[in-house]
Amino acid sequence: MAPLLLLLLALPSVVGAAPRPRVPAVIVFGDSTVDTGNNNQIPTPLRSDFPPYGRDMPGGARATGRFGNGRLPPDLISEALGLPPLVPAYLDPAYGIDDFARGVCFASAGTGIDNATADVLSVIPLWKEVEYYAEYQRRLRARLGRRRAAAVVRGALHVVSIGTNDFLENYFLLATGRFAQFTVSEFEDFLVAGARAFLARIHALGARRVTFAGLAAIGCLPLERTTNALRGEAGCVEEYNAVARSYNAKVRDMVRGLRAEFPALRLAYISVYESFQDIIDNPGKYGLENVEEGCCATGRFEMGFMCNDDSPLTCDAADKYLFWDAFHPTEKVNRLMANQTLQVCYQEGVL
Ligand SMILES: *[C@@H]1O[C@H](CO)[C@@H](O)[C@H](O)[C@H]1NC(C)=O
Ligand SMILES: *[C@@H]1O[C@H](CO)[C@@H](O)[C@H](O)[C@H]1NC(C)=O
Repeated sequence: MAPLLLLLLALPSVVGAAPRPRVPAVIVFGDSTVDTGNNNQIPTPLRSDFPPYGRDMPGGARATGRFGNGRLPPDLISEALGLPPLVPAYLDPAYGIDDFARGVCFASAGTGIDNATADVLSVIPLWKEVEYYAEYQRRLRARLGRRRAAAVVRGALHVVSIGTNDFLENYFLLATGRFAQFTVSEFEDFLVAGARAFLARIHALGARRVTFAGLAAIGCLPLERTTNALRGEAGCVEEYNAVARSYNAKVRDMVRGLRAEFPALRLAYISVYESFQDIIDNPGKYGLENVEEGCCATGRFEMGFMCNDDSPLTCDAADKYLFWDAFHPTEKVNRLMANQTLQVCYQEGVL
């Protein structure tokens, strides 16, 4: 066929199509902050595939296994980059490799950097998320060929959010195991080393653009405020916030070190703590009215099965809340997080 004809045939689709996405795919690792439904497919008690979870999903209520009233940061990031508005869970049989070529989520609610954290609620350990990533790449090569598959992985934005459960579900809650084995500072070092090994591993597998979120003010999660109240103290658990700050500082150093070691790795640290603190200190600036309790049920301790449609107390307007349940932010706040992640990506040349 003549080159001109080829060009003309190609033209309408080019002109008519939506703007080209900024990246070929969004690829997600981590815990419930970014799990778009993998836990639905594994035998764990930690799930959210029932109402009122998903109450405010676009197009109507749909409990997908996302721990929130609507979408999670990776979904919003994907949409903002010109990709689909939802990032599918890798284990969800409703999706296939053609979907995953534009975005895939390996995250599992309840998991952590420490293998022992995933064991607490029988969820997917981080090493297994990486194994799924390698399997995904094999499927991608079989579908697209070696060259195009490599281009997808190289161009994709990898979003990582993990670490809260290592402290709140494992170290401090069980107060056995790691707690007996490590001081909190040693445990931080252990986790940062684990995070570093994970990032080096996905980079070796082809990841080039990566964001790694620090911890939020984990002592201010409604569940921790409630625990504090039961101990007769008011407000956030300052001890946990101090741990988050100390761990975050170590993560920042680790990220800097990795960037120096691997020049091809465009890695950005996302300072979630500072944004959460600003939201808690200045709710009005964000149109929020309640930053201490979740919207679901009493908002003091319910998440997972305890946050269900039997409670008459669930709030009407989740957009006025920082937290949806006692542990997870609302879509409103996830939007702020997605926005922050993208801004940092542009500032630091990840995108
Ligand atoms: C976690 O478990 C995997 C698989 O058994 C193992 O390869 C890895 O070394 C473990 N990581 C740590 C930090 O113990
Ligand atoms: C998101 O970031 C843009 C700048 O990149 C800003 O103009 C916009 O107001 C932000 N939106 C929210 C909801 O924070």
